[in-house]
Amino acid sequence: MFKKSSKLNNVLYDVRGPVVDEAERMESSGVQILKLNIGNPAPFGFRTPDEVIYDMRQQLTECEGYSPAKGLFAARKAIMQYAQLKNIPNVTIEDIYTGNGVSELINLSMSALLDDGDEILIPSPDYPLWTACATLAGGKAVHYLCDEQADWYPDLADIRKKITRHTKAIVIINPNNPTGALYPKEVLEGIVEIARQHHLIIFSDEIYDRLVMDGGEHISIASLAPDLFCVTFSGLSKSHMIAGFRIGWMILSGNKAIAQDYIEGIRMLSNMRLCSNVPAQSIVQTALGGYQSVSNYLTPGGRIYEQRECIYQALKDIPGLSVVKPKAAFYMFPKLDVKKFHITNDEQFALDLLRDKKILLIHGGGFHWEQPDHFRVVYLPRIEVLKESADKIADFLSYYQQNRR
Ligand SMILES: Cc1ncc(COP(=O)(O)O)c(C=O)c1O
Repeated sequence: MFKKSSKLNNVLYDVRGPVVDEAERMESSGVQILKLNIGNPAPFGFRTPDEVIYDMRQQLTECEGYSPAKGLFAARKAIMQYAQLKNIPNVTIEDIYTGNGVSELINLSMSALLDDGDEILIPSPDYPLWTACATLAGGKAVHYLCDEQADWYPDLADIRKKITRHTKAIVIINPNNPTGALYPKEVLEGIVEIARQHHLIIFSDEIYDRLVMDGGEHISIASLAPDLFCVTFSGLSKSHMIAGFRIGWMILSGNKAIAQDYIEGIRMLSNMRLCSNVPAQSIVQTALGGYQSVSNYLTPGGRIYEQRECIYQALKDIPGLSVVKPKAAFYMFPKLDVKKFHITNDEQFALDLLRDKKILLIHGGGFHWEQPDHFRVVYLPRIEVLKESADKIADFLSYYQQNRR
């Protein structure tokens, strides 16, 4: 018998977990499932801009070899210029690393930093890869609360309470998956102040920074913290609908002098994986420059905007559900009245909904949310599908009683 490494014992990644397994089993027996579970734009008809595909084709034969470990010069230059536009301070071309999606770089940055017992503050709810990678690296993920009553902004008092002498860093996800929150400057300044007082590294996952609605402005937290060491993550999976091409990056900024040894660790791990997918690097310059076709999706009449309106209006009126309207990305994180439905297990709720209504979504626990009272909706599907899903959820919640079945 071969057993999995004990390092995986405390790792949770339910975005592709048991509820999803059950959905796959149902699908293989011919059942059609309405999928509100994964932030993968392409299957929902969000196509890659033509220019990106054209430019990748043009360059494909030049991308057969490994690139430099951090990435092609032209790709990193384009990312550097993007960092300049976002006012991220003290960034040279050597401070930019491309990766096979942000995912690879989350893993790399955690592995290079954390020793056994080191603590890192991660939001609850989170994008669970952060907790998984911190745990796998031997660190201890300590979850701070995001406050639903305050538009899901990080609760600064809770962050302060959870800092110990072992805390090395804080992660923020802005715009947020799974809540769709966009953090205002005051909140970011509050986080910077805490990081400054306690000498923390700031890791900021900004993969949705170009998917902002309602005239909001995304502010990179690194732009507010020139005296701290910050690592900012972004990529093209969402803004350019090319999640399958696997291209993301991280930008080291601010006070790099205090992080020289850590940066050496990052460099080692980056070298060890040789380089990231080179054809995908070849279109970073095309993607980041010029006209941004994603903007059309985000204003009235655009698909993401209209789909948000549709699902938000439909869910908020269902008895026993409440939901904060998201301002960015394509997620929302509605709350269930657990007393009304006698819910004690949110994974069971997701399974029951799947079996009864053939709707797949991920329960709040999958995002390290402790109470069994939330689930995440991905509103990438077309309006007709979202309407049908909302009707089915409303019907399900008109009779569902978890512990009285
Ligand atoms: C907050 C967040 N970070 C990172 C990722 C991973 O993105 P990538 O495709 O660049 O690996 C995702 C994907 O859903 C995400 O939601």
